[in-house]
Amino acid sequence: MIALVMAAGKGTRMLSERPKVLHGIAGEPMLGFVMNELEELRQEGLIRRVVVIVGHAADQVQAYLRKAWPASEDAIQAPQLGTGHAVMQAAPALVGHAGAVLIVNGDLPLLSATTLRQMAERHRSERAALTLLTVDLPDPGHYGRILRGPDGSVSGIVEYRDATPGQRAISEINVGVYLAEWPPLLEALSHLTPENDQGEFYLTDAVAAIVARRLKVVAVKTDDIEATYGINNRAELAAAGARWRRRTCDRWLERGVTIEDPATTWIGPRTVIGADTVIEPGVQLYGATRIGARCTIGSHSRLVDAVVGDRATIRSSDITDSSVGEDSTVGPFARLRDHVVVGRGARIGNFVEMKKVRFGDGAKAAHLTYLGDAEVGERANIGCGTVTCNYDGERKHRTTIGKGAFVGTNNTLVAPLSVGEDAYTAAGSTLTEDVPAGALALGRARQVIKEGWAYRRTDERARRRAEAGSDAGGAAGPALPAVVETAQDGPRELV
Ligand code: UD1
Ligand code: CA
Repeated sequence: MIALVMAAGKGTRMLSERPKVLHGIAGEPMLGFVMNELEELRQEGLIRRVVVIVGHAADQVQAYLRKAWPASEDAIQAPQLGTGHAVMQAAPALVGHAGAVLIVNGDLPLLSATTLRQMAERHRSERAALTLLTVDLPDPGHYGRILRGPDGSVSGIVEYRDATPGQRAISEINVGVYLAEWPPLLEALSHLTPENDQGEFYLTDAVAAIVARRLKVVAVKTDDIEATYGINNRAELAAAGARWRRRTCDRWLERGVTIEDPATTWIGPRTVIGADTVIEPGVQLYGATRIGARCTIGSHSRLVDAVVGDRATIRSSDITDSSVGEDSTVGPFARLRDHVVVGRGARIGNFVEMKKVRFGDGAKAAHLTYLGDAEVGERANIGCGTVTCNYDGERKHRTTIGKGAFVGTNNTLVAPLSVGEDAYTAAGSTLTEDVPAGALALGRARQVIKEGWAYRRTDERARRRAEAGSDAGGAAGPALPAVVETAQDGPRELV
């Protein structure tokens, strides 16, 4: 079996510049939900290939597919002349294919692999040429209606716009999922005509054509009503999103994950969470995020394509395209982005931002720090307020901090720079030259003491007030010695 996903339409009713299938739920384009279910079937060996029909804003859709679903293929439909025309565009990719095709509308985010498996089962056991997915809806709206003959067998599909009032009263609708033997379907498609209200080539017209050839058409009526939500506008997208949130939280609750508030927790279709992990309210776990067992994901954390090891704690933090090792703690209010790799047992505290950093096992950056394009060795300590100056206005440069190094508070590390293993740097240093292993680096101005300076200033003010003739002036202070300036001969405290 080969799967075809129809994703070439514009989605006029979304009133959007973005193609419909890239509008998302829980951080994932709706196309991704369909792809995720098909990927499950592909891994089971039920389907061999997934071909996505792209057309409107094809470059955007292709870019998403390359990133998220690299194993998929695509076929271009230009111009977009309807769903039947869309399937025809896959014909070159299916030359010689004698088996079945599973065709899925790309705008069905709640469709499940379970439903697709049931269809495949029926298709096989009934030896059907075409199997359709249908559902009875109390309010069938503008979906295509399933037509049945006197004996109850499917005779065709009529689109709402082309339906008579009597046909519009039918409650059984076409979901937009089809399983067909490819040779007879291709034959039927090649005879389609655009004689309908929209002037399009309708895939749904192939049904009557296959029935006319006396081939078997089977309808699988599902009771999973949510699976059949075809998204055509933003209200439907929001409603499907709410269903998805509830459904996916239930799924993780069943697998031993604590979700304190399912009403505010959003988990994407590709996200995986280990048992005994606790998810606090307001968390978003998106993309290919993988969370280990016994973790805590604190409230309002947002993780996108993040990997978190077992027993790690993430508090109110934002992590994108990055990983955090086992037993590490991050946050509150930390931001890790663009390939940060945090080792095991590391500690990243409040108001720390990292970009493209390898942060070693047991290393610490507990407060108020920016590290960019840096390598931090095991057990190194990054003092509060440390900043790597990685950008010179034209290019990015790297900072390397060795194992066990101790970077003092409020350091400015001007890259390219390396601080050797076990080295110390003094608090408040601006470092522009490499620090050898085991050394101490001081990069700050010496302190100057002006004895009595503050008292003299107060005296001067009192004298001026007296001169100005104000009787409200305060008493003069004690007489003070002449100015003595003392430059200390060394810093008292290094760090
Ligand atoms: C379609 C069905 C309708 C069914 C409904 C279920 C047809 C003619 N009608 O209607 O019976 O009840 O889905 O949701 O198929 N697409 C292309 N190329 C095109 C046109 C559409 O790839 O030229 C894609 C769209 O991107 C979308 C899918 O096909 O993913 C369905 O298209 P849409 O326009 O939403 O069809 P409906 O009018 O909803
Ligand atoms: Ca639709």
